[in-house]
Amino acid sequence: MEQAVQAISVFGLGYVGSVTAACFAHRGYRVVAVDVNPAKVEALNSGRSTILEPGMDELVAEGHRACRLHGCTDATEAVAQSDVSFVCVGTPSLRSGRMDSSQVERVGREIGLGLKSKKSHHLVVVRSTLLPGTTRSLFIPALEAASGKRAGSDFGVAYNPEFMREGTAVADFLEPPYTVVGADDVRALKPLRELYRGVPGRLFETSLEVAEMVKYASNAFHAVKIAFANEVGTLAKQLGVDTQAVVEIFTSDTRLNISAAYLSPGAAFGGSCLPKDLRALLHRAKELDLRLPLLEAVLPSNAEHLERAVEAVLRTRRKKVGIVGLSFKAGTDDLRESPQVELAKRLLGEGCEVRIWDQAVSLGRLAGSNRRFIEEVIPHIGSLLSGSLEEVVGGAEVIVVGTRAVGRERLAACLRPEQSVIDLANLEKLQRPGGVQHYEGICW
Ligand SMILES: NC(=O)c1ccc[n+]([C@@H]2O[C@H](COP(=O)([O-])OP(=O)(O)OC[C@H]3O[C@@H](n4cnc5c(N)ncnc54)[C@H](O)[C@@H]3O)[C@@H](O)[C@H]2O)c1
Repeated sequence: MEQAVQAISVFGLGYVGSVTAACFAHRGYRVVAVDVNPAKVEALNSGRSTILEPGMDELVAEGHRACRLHGCTDATEAVAQSDVSFVCVGTPSLRSGRMDSSQVERVGREIGLGLKSKKSHHLVVVRSTLLPGTTRSLFIPALEAASGKRAGSDFGVAYNPEFMREGTAVADFLEPPYTVVGADDVRALKPLRELYRGVPGRLFETSLEVAEMVKYASNAFHAVKIAFANEVGTLAKQLGVDTQAVVEIFTSDTRLNISAAYLSPGAAFGGSCLPKDLRALLHRAKELDLRLPLLEAVLPSNAEHLERAVEAVLRTRRKKVGIVGLSFKAGTDDLRESPQVELAKRLLGEGCEVRIWDQAVSLGRLAGSNRRFIEEVIPHIGSLLSGSLEEVVGGAEVIVVGTRAVGRERLAACLRPEQSVIDLANLEKLQRPGGVQHYEGICW
């Protein structure tokens, strides 16, 4: 599409569609909004908002007066009258919890019929929340089947998640934290760049699936944060501790608490503090007859993650395992509750031959700082330790990378192509170290 975007169609006059339509009209675009419910279309054509939301009455009345905002029930007409279509239909839960994608599939067919007779290039942008892969596997095929045309060459498709919150939807739309647009073909993103020019926040251009997943990651995280705050508050209240004071101090830490810290997928957590303190907190809650399902789920979730590492090694069907990194994180020789110690024990139990390298642990052992722990608590693990990375990696068929303390270059220099690498530390940033043919990230 070479010419500037002049007109927009919006499918679905619910919360997202109404706000999208009214805000684009406010920015000066001609907007036609489509809904299967004629009452909503009628309301819009009388200058009334179909939803109760601060600012919407004014924006809809303004768009109506300026003749920039009108509704219709005919998808073909709306596609013909616009350059870009935004899909904002519902994706509610079925009884089982499964996402109901029927509205999206139907609107895909209806827009597709409109595309069939369309001469100029058209971009279809999905804003409805869709599970990763749905735009590609369901929506695009519906568009293509109905139009007889090909996505990518004959029309464009993009996914652009919406992050607005009801109650502040207009403000959120006009000032989003960021804008995410996903597409297979960057040409599809050109009209979106134009539409979002001047909108505050960063514009991320990515794949369809990443854009789809970001929305779910955001909503799941927000839900976890709320449940976490409520569980911590409930426990504090029962303990007679001032919840507000705790929250105020807790949230003031933007280095470890309210930050990207601890949000990189990687190895299971461990060490001498997190598991112990979670256990103590949960034990106290139990004494108080409090159920804290979110906090109770954390240690089982961590154990499951460790099990995934065991399974990844066993799936290779190779028995000689080299573990690189034994302590729970780089820069320490503390082995208490190290997940890698657990991993080594599990692999030994599965009949694997295990050798382990950890520079800090070996040095600590020589200096005596962790010698007693190794000799008395995990003597069978201690005997597997080697001071030579080359020896541990060289003698292994599978290498489990459990620490970032080993540099990528140093590790790559020891690897052979026929070896398997299971990466728990995200050391390689999605690259195959040393040209190995089998590289697997634990959760990437
Ligand atoms: N509500 C929110 O705050 C919010 C925020 C971000 C994302 N989302 C997501 O955006 C999507 C829409 O949410 P919503 O709350 O606006 O939904 P909603 O149920 O309020 O509105 C959906 C609208 O689509 C209409 N519709 C259904 N099929 C249609 C078709 N074939 N053609 C035209 N219109 C059709 C319905 O009649 C309805 O008016 C969902 O996927 C939701 O998860 C919602």
